[in-house]
Amino acid sequence: MVAIVSTTAYLGLEARGVEVQVQIAPGVPAFNVVGLADKAVAESRERVRAAIAAMGLSLPPKRITVNLSPADLPKEGSHYDLPIALGLLSAMGIVDAELLSEFIVVGELSLDGRIAPSPGVLLAALHASGSDRGLICPASQGPEAAWAGELNIVAAPDLLSLLNHLKGVSQLAPPQAGEAEAPVRSVDLKKVKGQETAKRALEIAAAGGHNLLMVGPPGAGKSLLASCLPGILPPLSSGEALGIM
Ligand SMILES: Nc1ncnc2c1ncn2[C@@H]1O[C@H](COP(=O)(O)OP(=O)(O)OP(=O)(O)O)[C@@H](O)[C@H]1O
Ligand SMILES: [Mg+2]
Repeated sequence: MVAIVSTTAYLGLEARGVEVQVQIAPGVPAFNVVGLADKAVAESRERVRAAIAAMGLSLPPKRITVNLSPADLPKEGSHYDLPIALGLLSAMGIVDAELLSEFIVVGELSLDGRIAPSPGVLLAALHASGSDRGLICPASQGPEAAWAGELNIVAAPDLLSLLNHLKGVSQLAPPQAGEAEAPVRSVDLKKVKGQETAKRALEIAAAGGHNLLMVGPPGAGKSLLASCLPGILPPLSSGEALGIM
């Protein structure tokens, strides 16, 4: 039987879907990762083995093959640990394969089974929300992933609590979107003296999201008025904040 878990590969600012296929077949015991994996991905075998052992489970003494598909796409990074581990647990019959198919999985594993952060979670979350799936990610990156909007995020601190969540034994709380950095305070509009018409035009443009053309002699206060604009704009929605990132 082949267990399949979805994850992503990062190409610049784009996340591409990658399928982790795990097969456990009779034969000489081995654990191979194929599919254009770089060094960090190849080393994931040792972390996965140790993290599964830390839960008191051992890998079956069989021939284990992990294929990262599409095989011609280069795979970099340590975030393949968790999808490989879940694929193995699914092939071993410990995790429900159907439930896993509803998620994109990213995360690095520590030897003791903790799920460590790895870069790119927001991209993975956007990819997951675009393909109508949930996301399984490290607990510390849940607030970052939550910025992607309405999607089912399971942010787990370690492998054991993730398994308990997937089996319904104990639920992990969904993460809240993290705080964005406070914007730099711009000049206050009340510093502008007079110019009532210009100020009103500025307010209407800010409220309605209109464009502005400022015309006037040097020193009339065009740059001053423009620098007041951010202070009266409504706060960005999370979608807008991601758009101008
Ligand atoms: N209505 C105003 N109230 C308070 N300060 C003003 C006002 N208009 C202009 N100033 C001040 O005058 C100076 C010049 O204004 P500003 O640089 O905004 O002019 P400008 O229209 O952008 O000029 P330029 O066309 O040369 O770029 C700034 O120090 C600004 O603070
Ligand atoms: Mg100016």
